[in-house]
Amino acid sequence: QLGDFEHFMLKEINEQPLALENAFRGRLNMSEGTCKFGGLNLSRKNIRQIDRILIVACGTAWHSGLVGEYLIEKYSRIPVEVEYASEFRYRNAPMDKNTLVIVISQSGETIDTLEAQREAQRKGYHVIGIINNVGSTIARENDGGIYQHSGPEIGVASTKAFTSQLLILSMLSVYLGRTRDLSYADGCQMVEAIRTLPKLVEQTLELGEEIQSIAKAYAKNKDFLFLGRLEMFPIALEGALKLKEISYIHAEGYPAAEMKHGPIALISEDCPSIVIVPDDETLKKNLSSVQEVRARKGKVIIITDSYDIPAHLADEIITVPKSHNCVRPILMTIPLQLLSYYIAVELGRDVDKPRNLAKSVTVE
Ligand code: F6R
Repeated sequence: QLGDFEHFMLKEINEQPLALENAFRGRLNMSEGTCKFGGLNLSRKNIRQIDRILIVACGTAWHSGLVGEYLIEKYSRIPVEVEYASEFRYRNAPMDKNTLVIVISQSGETIDTLEAQREAQRKGYHVIGIINNVGSTIARENDGGIYQHSGPEIGVASTKAFTSQLLILSMLSVYLGRTRDLSYADGCQMVEAIRTLPKLVEQTLELGEEIQSIAKAYAKNKDFLFLGRLEMFPIALEGALKLKEISYIHAEGYPAAEMKHGPIALISEDCPSIVIVPDDETLKKNLSSVQEVRARKGKVIIITDSYDIPAHLADEIITVPKSHNCVRPILMTIPLQLLSYYIAVELGRDVDKPRNLAKSVTVE
C-alpha cells in the first residue's frame, strides 16, 4: 500500500528509521558493548580462527559489501575481500582455509549470488547470508545468517534494504571485533551510535524539500560524477547507480583522489560532481578535490556532516547530522537516494519500475 506517498521508492526511503530499528532490535548488548546474532552457527572459537572474509553479492548489495570491507577491517581487523557473485562463481579463485564467506542479497533469489553460495559450500566453506527475504532460496540453503527484517521492498531501486545491510555489517564488525580485540569502550560507543541512529535518519529525511529543489535545478544534466574517499567511495558508487537506474542519466562513482587519473577530463559546466565530505581526517583532501572540480568550471554539490565548510566552496551544500564513523555511510546515503528520486520524478520517469530492470534477477 502506497499510503500518502506517490511512489514505493519514496515510501521505502521514508521507512528507513523503522527498517533500521528492525535490523538491530534484540541484537544490541549494551552492557557488554557488543552485538549478538542468533543464527550464525559459529562458535566464539570459530570466529577467532577466521583469517579472511570474502563478501559476495551483486549490484547495490555489492556496494554494501564494499562498505562492509572498510568496517570489518577497521573494527574487527580481519582482512576482507569483496567480489561480484557473477565473477566469483566462474573464477575459481584460490581461497584460504579459514575463510568465512558472507553473501548479501535483499531478495535472497539472485541467481548469481545463489550459485556463488553453492560454489563456496561445495568447496567446504561456511557461508552466512545477510538476507531480507525470509525463507528465500539463499536463506534456506546457507549455513547461517542474519535476517534484515526491512519489510518488503517493492521499488526496483533498492533503498531501505541497502541501509539496513550497512547497519548489519556495522553490527557484525562490532561483534567480530569484540570477539577478537575491539575494546569494551569502543564497542559501547558503536552500540550506542547504532541504537540512536533512527533519530538521526529521521532528521536527515527532513532534507527532502531542500533536495527536491536542488534536483529540479540539476535534472537537465546528462552526466554526473560521484566522488568519495574510503568508506564513502562505495556510497559514491551507490549514488551513481541509483541515478542511472531510475533517471537514465549517465553517472560514475570514483574514489575522489582517482579523479586526476582520468575522469577529470569529463569535468565541464555540464557535468556536476557530487562530493561526499565527511567531517573526518579526509576533509581537507576532499575539499582540495572540490577545488580541482571548481577550477574546471564543474558544478559541485557537497554532502557533508561538517558545519565548517565555507559556502563559497560549493554550489550546494547538503548537511546531514553528525554521527559515529560506523553509521555515517548510512546518513550520507539518504540525500543521494532523495536526489536521484526527485531527479527521476522531475524527468517523468517510471520510478518504481525503471525500464529494463527487474526486482530480482533470476537469469544468469
Ligand atoms: C539496485 C538493485 C540491484 C540489486 C541486485 C542484487 O538498486 O536493486 O542492483 O541490488 O540485483 O539484488 P539482491 O540484493 O536481491 O540479490
